[in-house]
Amino acid sequence: MNDMIQAIDLGKSYPLPEGAYPVFSGVSFAVKPGEMVAIMGVSGVGKTTLLNLLGGLDRPTEGRIVLDGDDLGARTIEELAAIRNRKVGFVFQFFHLLPEFTALENASLPLLIRGIDRSRAFPRGLDLLRDVSLEDKASMRPSQLSGGEQQRVSLARALVGSPKLLLADEPTGNLDWKTGESIIRLIRDLHGRMGLTSILVTHNERVADLCDRRLLMEKGRLKRMG
Ligand SMILES: Nc1ncnc2c1ncn2[C@@H]1O[C@H](COP(=O)(O)OP(=O)(O)OP(=O)(O)O)[C@@H](O)[C@H]1O
Ligand SMILES: [Mg+2]
Repeated sequence: MNDMIQAIDLGKSYPLPEGAYPVFSGVSFAVKPGEMVAIMGVSGVGKTTLLNLLGGLDRPTEGRIVLDGDDLGARTIEELAAIRNRKVGFVFQFFHLLPEFTALENASLPLLIRGIDRSRAFPRGLDLLRDVSLEDKASMRPSQLSGGEQQRVSLARALVGSPKLLLADEPTGNLDWKTGESIIRLIRDLHGRMGLTSILVTHNERVADLCDRRLLMEKGRLKRMG
């Protein structure tokens, strides 16, 4: 089976006034379609940096990423944006919902960005809100929702465009234990039902337990755990 995503000798350093700041290098791994993988590691080790590279939000300074057969390094900024819109769903620790938009508008956003009109995007957005049990809060704004509800809206938004890859950066990091547990179970459930490939950055053992395998970032390297 072909890999859904492949990282080949990936390295990233950030340019700083005092010189290049290397975060990691020589990172290679692959994730098969349908796998759910946890990436763990201490704060500052480069997990978010790696996730941003995998989803085409930023570019590596070394190595290559092949996403669903597409070599991201060979793509222009505009092409990367289109690939992200079609193939990748992102979930963030702090939700990143648009405050002026309703839950339904937020959930439908990737489709609106794709140029699909509201009459078609909103019914699909509502389907996803139903999947996360929030259809009754479709007209609420993020400030009127609890943290767990906001994360469910952001999960609906991540999945509304039928992506192949779900990237979640500490999706339970800003939620209490019980709410986090319900979010991770929801992710696991939707992962299976929608045939997703998922990569979750997490500090949480319970989250990692629900994944098929774990990778550990340590001292600028990525290792297999367990
Ligand atoms: N835009 C940037 N410019 C310069 N340095 C950066 C930038 N983004 C991240 N870094 C640095 O890269 C390192 C890795 O950061 P990153 O956010 O990837 O860590 P992380 O593993 O996600 O940490 P956490 O668990 O706290 O979220 C840190 O030392 C950070 O200061
Ligand atoms: Mg991070």
